[in-house]
Amino acid sequence: MGEGLEQIKGEAIEALENINEQTDLEAWKVKYLGRSSAIMGVFKSLGTLSKEDKPIVGKNANLVKVALEKALAQKDDLLNQHAIYQSLEEEKIDVTLPGRKTASGSLHPTTQTLREIYRVFGDMGFQIYRSQEVESDMYNFQLLNFPLHHPARDMQDTFFLKSSQDRGEDPLLLRTHTSPGQIHAMREHTSKYPEDPPPIRIILPGMCYRYEQITARSEIQFNQVEGLAIGKGITFGDLKGTLSNFARRMFGQDAKTRFRASHFPFTEPSAEMDVGCFLCGGEGCSVCKGAGWLEILGCGMVHPTVLENGGFDPEVYSGFAFGMGSERITMTRHHIEDIRYFWANDLRFLDQF
Ligand code: PHE
Repeated sequence: MGEGLEQIKGEAIEALENINEQTDLEAWKVKYLGRSSAIMGVFKSLGTLSKEDKPIVGKNANLVKVALEKALAQKDDLLNQHAIYQSLEEEKIDVTLPGRKTASGSLHPTTQTLREIYRVFGDMGFQIYRSQEVESDMYNFQLLNFPLHHPARDMQDTFFLKSSQDRGEDPLLLRTHTSPGQIHAMREHTSKYPEDPPPIRIILPGMCYRYEQITARSEIQFNQVEGLAIGKGITFGDLKGTLSNFARRMFGQDAKTRFRASHFPFTEPSAEMDVGCFLCGGEGCSVCKGAGWLEILGCGMVHPTVLENGGFDPEVYSGFAFGMGSERITMTRHHIEDIRYFWANDLRFLDQF
């Protein structure tokens, strides 16, 4: 019987050793420890044994059964561990592989230019004043000394908002320039300080709209930065000094500037400021159309009527104003040939900044 048990054990252990899949363990258990297994047969036959053999065989059979159960548990553990190692091996992450780069965006070229303009004027003590984009005819034109049928309006055809026109009210429109903000800022200031208002030094940035044919040089929407300085004894010399300094900060210390006489209804005298062409250095080329100069802004001394409309006494106060297109300035700095790129949302253009 002792040999029989040894055989049973030997067979079972051998079978167990050949198992490599956890799923096969259940079948092994049924076969070698189940109700009709050989070892269970031994237990069942105990009754037929002699009084002396019974406890010995019973004890030995029990030892075999316990040994097989233990072997099964160990095998189960082993296969479990194996499975874990295998999955670790197969799903291993190679940390030496370079990661995928996240695409980082950048600020729109106009935003970059605007921020630089803010910085330059900020250094000269100018504050930023935000004014509205929807304006009335009164603010966009009339208070800026464009009478109702003045021909200078033709230069700034705009988008009128039809409903207000139909109601016969002061028509609303998308502002054609940032200059109406001058009136808002001055009125706010002079109503706050009705007596002897302190000087104003502000820039007014923002989007403007014109009913234009879209070409390489003109868009129906664009940013402007308006400037306004008002105080006692401000002269055209202050205007030139401020804007020449701006040009040097913006275009480099060697930047040349020149002022040409011009006309705006809301400034007198008026001028346009040019910077020396970045490409030819003044000799004349296709970018500056042979002139050697690029126009970047309009400016002038604030017209007495405009000062008065803003609540300032033109006998006591004077001031200068200017207005520049920030896309134009960006074009000049980065040698961009077509203004339409700015709002076309073409990544091949935008990626370059
Ligand atoms: N508003 C003028 C334009 O859009 C520019 C300007 C501003 C000129 C301030 C003089 C003073 O053309």
